[in-house]
Amino acid sequence: MEAQTSKVVLSLNAKEVDSLKDGVSFKKNPEDGRCYIIYKSSGGFKACKNQCKHQGGLFIKDIEDLDGRTVKCTKHNWKLNVSSMKYVNPPDSFLQDELEVEMLDDGGMQLVELSPIDPWLTDPRDPLELQEGEITYLTHACMELQLGQKRFLFDPWLMGPAFARGWWLLHEPPADCLDRLCAADLIYISHLHSDHLRPNGGRLPEKVDLMMSDFAGGASGFPMTFHGGKYSGELNTVQCCPGNIVEPWGTPFTEQRCYIAKHYVALSEAITDPPANAKIYKDSWEFDLYVDELNSAISSEIFKHESWIQFYYSWAGFQNYNLVVRMIETDDSFKPMSNGYDYLVDFLDLSFPSTRPDREHSYIEIKNRIGVMRYVVLHGGLWDDLYIGFQNRISRDPDTYHHKFWNHFQTQLPLHGPDWDQFLQQVPPIQETDALNYGLLNYCSIL
Ligand code: FES
Repeated sequence: MEAQTSKVVLSLNAKEVDSLKDGVSFKKNPEDGRCYIIYKSSGGFKACKNQCKHQGGLFIKDIEDLDGRTVKCTKHNWKLNVSSMKYVNPPDSFLQDELEVEMLDDGGMQLVELSPIDPWLTDPRDPLELQEGEITYLTHACMELQLGQKRFLFDPWLMGPAFARGWWLLHEPPADCLDRLCAADLIYISHLHSDHLRPNGGRLPEKVDLMMSDFAGGASGFPMTFHGGKYSGELNTVQCCPGNIVEPWGTPFTEQRCYIAKHYVALSEAITDPPANAKIYKDSWEFDLYVDELNSAISSEIFKHESWIQFYYSWAGFQNYNLVVRMIETDDSFKPMSNGYDYLVDFLDLSFPSTRPDREHSYIEIKNRIGVMRYVVLHGGLWDDLYIGFQNRISRDPDTYHHKFWNHFQTQLPLHGPDWDQFLQQVPPIQETDALNYGLLNYCSIL
């Protein structure tokens, strides 16, 4: 069990407590300027930091909320219901961390923050003597750090695209980049996104130690460990690396440590003194090689059977959520394919209706480039490739971000892909005429 520390972050005297009105009050600690929210109701007080869980924005009163329970973030409009400490936009997403409210005998009040002790503070070590090191920028977020005889390599995306076919390297890595990778004493992977881990078709060299953070599974921060390209709850499941795996902090994720992934933005502009004859920018990417690989999924046997849809979404395991999604397969210009699939998924009961249900529901329409969508389906990949890779176009009604839905397809898919062999064994053999027309579960034509 981890030790906890408690800290009084705000004190109010009896008069200040008496002046608190029912509903939301904003308070600032005059000593350190930090802001807090207090919610008063007949049931007592609740309190939290005035700090949005998304990216730390400040809340203000939400004037659209007549009940006076909701506050709205000034950065990107997330909304928090302070009476329940649940975020209402995005819905069904996060809980705000509460502060303890302690009422004092003299009528005053204290807000107390309980927190785990930062592990690097519980057992502080003497700082090592500073040594000169050398940092070599390879490409994107990948750098090599040499300290004494040790070499560390960070975030190796060294070849090919990231996020399916959405991101391509801007800077040409040195010709010996794979040798450097293999010679590294330790490889640090800040998070799971493919622009931080694609050294060589996603494979890491053998017998090199790995260091992974326990946070920033996405660039905005999630607990992170992974297995076969998926998040998992266990750390020691990276299949391809028999070296040691080091988790630097070994503690539960905390919001404060989630911003490391921003570093490459500055680096891309920071090449001021390249070695002589270094080629800085890439001028060829072998697009066809990688795009053809993705597009090879289009003709997979499974898509000759309409029931792949039920099989895939049953495998994905997302339901009991009042959302209907229309998925449309398109060409590269996001024009629907005449022989592509176009279908509805009702995630309330995981059904596949031919028209939208009569009940009130949220609705999202997603146009996906056929090659990438089928590749993701075929391999049971995360949907990062689709939307971070710019491989789809999304419209939604109402204009609400459904965190629960996206988070599931971004982080919660089963570790192992769908068992398509089993699927093909259980579907009836396809007739010649059907084979010619496969892919025609067409929402528009059904309407
Ligand atoms: S920081 Fe609050 S919504 Fe983004």
